[in-house]
Amino acid sequence: MSTVRDRARALSRRIKTRLRPLSPRLSREPKGLNAAQWEALQAKDYHPSLEGIIERYQRDISEQDAQGWTNFVGKHLGEEIRLEGKRFLEIGHGGGWYLAQSLRGRCSSVVGVEISEIANTKARQALEHFGYDRFELFTVQDSDLAALPVRGIDVALSLTVFQHTARDVFGDYLVWLASVMTPAGVLYMQTLENDRETRVQRSPDDVLSVSYQSGAVADMVRRAGLRVVKRVAYRYSDGIDYWGIYHVAAGASEAP
Ligand SMILES: C[S@@+](CC[C@H](N)C(=O)[O-])C[C@H]1O[C@@H](n2cnc3c(N)ncnc32)[C@H](O)[C@@H]1O
Repeated sequence: MSTVRDRARALSRRIKTRLRPLSPRLSREPKGLNAAQWEALQAKDYHPSLEGIIERYQRDISEQDAQGWTNFVGKHLGEEIRLEGKRFLEIGHGGGWYLAQSLRGRCSSVVGVEISEIANTKARQALEHFGYDRFELFTVQDSDLAALPVRGIDVALSLTVFQHTARDVFGDYLVWLASVMTPAGVLYMQTLENDRETRVQRSPDDVLSVSYQSGAVADMVRRAGLRVVKRVAYRYSDGIDYWGIYHVAAGASEAP
């Protein structure tokens, strides 16, 4: 015979079942690139002025932090990252400081892909100021990534970019990377994660709140035909979010 408590539990389950389809979380996620928002942020000096960017390059050189990003990523992943002779690609390079470091690390050439023309103009001016010439910068705004004349990438990098983008943009970049990396190519990336739930963008203006539940990024990597070689969680505060830092290889996982 059912007790009052059983009936209350059954009622509570029915209410939850009815409420679930009303959850607006996923259906409100915007799609595609939010170029206008990024141009507005960069116009307001989201990144430093050209002078500030040049100072940052200068500081790297004088502190002999010639390959700064390789030290940072390599330390977290426990690897030595070598760049000599490699063709390098960065997604979301901002002022281009990691492109400059990679040229100093003796990459054969570097390619940068940015959503912001303003960021690209400053990055180009800063790179030219230091006399670099083995670089190409592309702006993607309404972009068809596949149309970019980019191939043969040995090392790709994207640090603190994909926590700002819609999920379809992240997914499209991973699929594109799988098509432009060499068979021995490597992707290093850093994006925001947490252990609870994937938080998607609420509107195109919302460039700050995306955080992937641990495991979700690895699924996207696999779906793109790439393979996670190593992932580490880097906790920068005691909040729920932390950085996921990845070494991803070209070529899908072998069948289980
Ligand atoms: C937090 S900054 C990181 C800059 C640099 N990677 C670093 O770590 O210093 C994010 C950069 O990503 C760029 N960005 C945002 N969405 C992008 C997209 N869909 N494609 C390419 N770049 C994007 C922004 O313009 C900005 O320069």
